[in-house]
Amino acid sequence: MIKKFKNIETKFVNKDRKKIYFNSGAGTLVLKDTLEKFNFELENNLYSSSDGGNIDLRENIGETRNLIRDIFNVKRHDIIFQSNTTSSINLVAYNLNKILKKGDEIILTDTEHLSNFSPWIKFAKEYKIKVNIIETDKGLINIKNLKSKISKKTKLISFNHLSNTFSLENNISEIINLCKDLNIYSFVDAAQSFSKVEIDFSKIDPDFLVISAQKAFGIDSFGVLLARKEIINNFEPLIIGGKMNKGLDKMNNLIYANSPYKFEAGSKSVSNISSFSKSLEFISELDLEKVKLYLIELSNYCKDKLSNISNIDIINNNVDSIGTVLIRDKNYSSQDLYYYLEQNNIFTTQGFICSNNNNPNINNEKFLRISFHIYNSKEQIDKLYSVLNNGGNYLDENI
Ligand SMILES: Cc1ncc(COP(=O)(O)O)c(C=O)c1O
Repeated sequence: MIKKFKNIETKFVNKDRKKIYFNSGAGTLVLKDTLEKFNFELENNLYSSSDGGNIDLRENIGETRNLIRDIFNVKRHDIIFQSNTTSSINLVAYNLNKILKKGDEIILTDTEHLSNFSPWIKFAKEYKIKVNIIETDKGLINIKNLKSKISKKTKLISFNHLSNTFSLENNISEIINLCKDLNIYSFVDAAQSFSKVEIDFSKIDPDFLVISAQKAFGIDSFGVLLARKEIINNFEPLIIGGKMNKGLDKMNNLIYANSPYKFEAGSKSVSNISSFSKSLEFISELDLEKVKLYLIELSNYCKDKLSNISNIDIINNNVDSIGTVLIRDKNYSSQDLYYYLEQNNIFTTQGFICSNNNNPNINNEKFLRISFHIYNSKEQIDKLYSVLNNGGNYLDENI
């Protein structure tokens, strides 16, 4: 049994301790130190009106970029600040035509978040690139199956490290090595995994990897794209504006700044970016192997408990999900379940949860997602169990 992280919940912003937060798959609680730094930045570093010089210095965001460089041991990649994982993926998908040609193929899986699905679909279609969507084994990429779907035309594979639904750990190292052997670009969506699972970036060495602050104890609307320098150098920015160009050449063409600034047009969320350094420090000190095992233990404990309630179906049974349980009620919609839990101070999420409708494991049906992180406990799961078990025909009474 993995011991709970001692008093860890006190490090997070959750004023009303009666609230049970089971929605970390959407966004983790914010670290108190991060919020404190965010407030400090707002109060003390009002918008920089200086122009020219080093942007990171001017905007006080260099510490965050340096910490990312150190934590990931980044050497041959640029660290590009974006507003979230979605915008990072859009930037690369928009540039598919810079690295692939008409008739080439890319591979996605059936368990990608819509964010790691829709941009590839849109731009691949525009550039006449074929998209192959491979089936997973209940959310886990089967390497044998993946190999069988790779053709000479396959030029890029984009896949999650942990999905937003099944939260199983894909063997990203094996997939990236396969990509390297076959000259295929690798793109890792690590939005869910960064605060839960160890990522030895310099060892796996993907071409691209993305994370979001919101899922890593930071504040929303900030994400990071790690992109191999020699690839991203030729990319076109998706957003054009200030702070990303140096003016015009003689032919009235924009002269872009170098990457990463070329891809960071406009005003940034500087207080947010700067304060994320606190979340990064916290994550770098966590024993992520223990975090992973603790989250698997919570998920399995939750599944065991809820399997005693006859009207609850557990969708992700018999797999070691890292902090996620998906359920349906035989009698009530997931929306009713969600509101009932909310009335009892338990916060989850429900619906399709941005799973793409190619996911046969979800079967295009809505469900309730209960997702955990290190601040959750078995006692909270006991409360969930008793609320669901005592629910009876609560909903009928409200009609
Ligand atoms: C696996 C995965 N990828 C991508 C995203 C999109 O992230 P963002 O909302 O930061 O763009 C999410 C969000 O839930 C996710 O879980």
